[in-house]
Amino acid sequence: MLGQENKKNIIGVFDSGLGGLTVLKYFLHDNPGYNYIYLGDNARLPYGEKSPETIYDYTREAADFLFTAGCNLIIIACNTVSAQALRRLQQEYLPSAYPDRRILGVIRPLVEAIARDKKIKSVGIIGTKATINSDAYKLELKKLKPELRIEQQATPLLVPLIEEGWARKPETKMILKKYLRPLKAKQIDALILGCTHYPFLYKEINKIMGRRILVPQPGEIIARSLVDYLARHEELGLTTPANPTCKFYTTDDQRLFKDWGEKFLGSEIKNLERVKISEL
Ligand code: DGL
Repeated sequence: MLGQENKKNIIGVFDSGLGGLTVLKYFLHDNPGYNYIYLGDNARLPYGEKSPETIYDYTREAADFLFTAGCNLIIIACNTVSAQALRRLQQEYLPSAYPDRRILGVIRPLVEAIARDKKIKSVGIIGTKATINSDAYKLELKKLKPELRIEQQATPLLVPLIEEGWARKPETKMILKKYLRPLKAKQIDALILGCTHYPFLYKEINKIMGRRILVPQPGEIIARSLVDYLARHEELGLTTPANPTCKFYTTDDQRLFKDWGEKFLGSEIKNLERVKISEL
């Protein structure tokens, strides 16, 4: 069994790249007292176009890295991984490799928030191809609110545009409109941003959807659900140290991670290292 003894009171946050920083930003705001390690597998992004098997293999390597680094709990900030690999990690990998640690995803908290809101009778979901093809949001939503009308739309061009630094370009706004207007025409009450990168386009998306359609900020909901989870799971041994730390790792170029990452995180990235997590 791998490194059972080295729990170091750390919350790991994993994403295929920079997008998960939009989630970490809210963790640092709502749960500021904890130690965090953020890992972005930028070298192998995008995950959203890859097969479930590859997504699982990559994520297992990331989890090994984070648990070996001492994380008690890993939050998978990536929607694609939450949709395609989370269940298998929880059922196959965790019980044999790290039975006393936990891995959580981002789909459940978002789904619960939508299901709780009585005014929402129909919902749209946008995400990568892998997330939409998995039907993960749809299946979870149907379990909690069978009467909900669900409209899904894969929006695969958005991640590369954001990664290219084209988020504010008129071309991106045009593509957003192409994707979102058909959803809007379906009279949805809310839109789930089912991808880590989309909060970066929050203002533009909100504007296109108009006042009537609720667009929850995913990071806000996920951070609130983490507060609640930590309060209910003292056995994980996560406490708030006197001098909490936040460490960043990327599998690709550090300078790019820092430059772009600070835009996603909204604050300075210190304590950053490049790391190799692949077994290949
Ligand atoms: N992090 C991914 C997600 O939330 C988007 C980027 C990728 O495709 O790897 O789905």
